[in-house]
Amino acid sequence: MEKFIVDGPTKLVGNVTIAGAKNVALKALVASLLTDEEVIIDNVPQIRDVHLMIEVLEHLGKHCTFKNSTITIKKNSSHTCTVPLEVGARLRTSSMVLGPLLSRYGKAIIPNPGGCRIGARPIDRHIEGLKAMGASISYASADGYFHAKVSDLHGAEITFEKNTHTGTETLLLAAILAKGTTILHNAAQEVEVDDLIELLRTMGAAITRTANREIIVEGVSTLHGTTYTIMPDRNEEVTFAVAAIASTGDITVHNSRPQYLAAFLKALSRAGGGWEEIDTDTTRYFYKGELQAVDVVTGVYPGFMTDWQAPWALLMTQAKGESVIHETVFENRFAYVEELKKMGAKIAYFDPKVKNPEEFYNFNWNDHIRGMHQAIRITGPTNLHNAIVSINDLRAGATLLLATTIGSGKSYLYGIEQVDRGYEHIENRLTTMGAHIERVRGDALS
Ligand code: EPZ
Repeated sequence: MEKFIVDGPTKLVGNVTIAGAKNVALKALVASLLTDEEVIIDNVPQIRDVHLMIEVLEHLGKHCTFKNSTITIKKNSSHTCTVPLEVGARLRTSSMVLGPLLSRYGKAIIPNPGGCRIGARPIDRHIEGLKAMGASISYASADGYFHAKVSDLHGAEITFEKNTHTGTETLLLAAILAKGTTILHNAAQEVEVDDLIELLRTMGAAITRTANREIIVEGVSTLHGTTYTIMPDRNEEVTFAVAAIASTGDITVHNSRPQYLAAFLKALSRAGGGWEEIDTDTTRYFYKGELQAVDVVTGVYPGFMTDWQAPWALLMTQAKGESVIHETVFENRFAYVEELKKMGAKIAYFDPKVKNPEEFYNFNWNDHIRGMHQAIRITGPTNLHNAIVSINDLRAGATLLLATTIGSGKSYLYGIEQVDRGYEHIENRLTTMGAHIERVRGDALS
């Protein structure tokens, strides 16, 4: 077990280059299963989830070499159609191999996917869509695997009852080699989906976004190899923007894409956070005076991303007044709140009045956990102090690392493997900007 020991408070000043988007890189690796030809993906972040996905691909007959930020994927041996439990169950995106395996081999056995513990995160919307395309899929609780098979995967017209980011991508990956046309209604619009579509097009896929939240796929017989550079990670950029302003510092971000952060930048401007575009690739984020409390409601693209709500909560602990965060995508995404309260943050849970929660919330209402809340009220500003904190999920982990950096005193962070899942060399990059972070092996408090 590793931990971070962090000394604060620190003002973060300097430069950072945003790494490739985790939530594109993982799907680009899945897309390589659609061809036996060589696929080269550039700008891939050095993060744990990518290494886990490489393990999945190697179990399925691929050979991957990962050097600097480039992954080269080749056919290694005859394919298999089973993802082992010990790998697949630790990675949300492992279930996405259903699409390519069913379309190419008519069979797939995958474990119930894992990923961040921020809710039930079922894949019912993925499975409904694949069944509409002719697949039969059953879940054997005895062995914890989904067993899927199909004789002839065919196109279908599918309407998602609610937004699903990886559900949309799974069905795209299935439809590309299926027979006939697939039309997806109420399809996800997150920009990471568009980057995956661009990659698939370079492999020969026939995919078009025809109308708002609609995608049409014409099945083709084979796909060829490609070389593709994925987009920078929006969630990383928001994390470093908050780092700059919450620490009263000044960080210049390279590989910046402000055009994908509109909802965040609008809230940041209202809160009095400083930011300016230096050029098309570079944005400077800086503290320019007292922050004001600003309410946010998370939502699907182009709304305020759910992945930004934890860093935003930290920023609001430094803002004057009362702010509300209403989380509408996941039903259990406030695990970091108790940890921030240990550091002195003033945060209370509550449930906003919602006329029809089943319709309003993106998660399935029957996954709602009695006693869990969908909103928090933050009163600021508060001077955070040190604590021993434990990390529950990826974005919460980055938030708590920032909180202990701006808090006064020596803090200990446990569960840091969660942060390594999605942030490349995070402590090195923060240390170059002045943070005092030590990664320590072993459990003893020292
Ligand atoms: C993707 O998760 C991202 N992960 C998440 O990022 C991101 O927060 C989320 O999309 C929203 O944009 C990856 O791309 C690997 P959903 P995903 O399917 O696809 C429920 C991060 O920090 N749902 O849009 O799992 C689901 O439980 C991660 O990088 C069903 O009930 O999100 C959730 O409450 C966290 N049944 C809501 O819908 C389904 O079949 C949205 O899920 C599918 C989803």
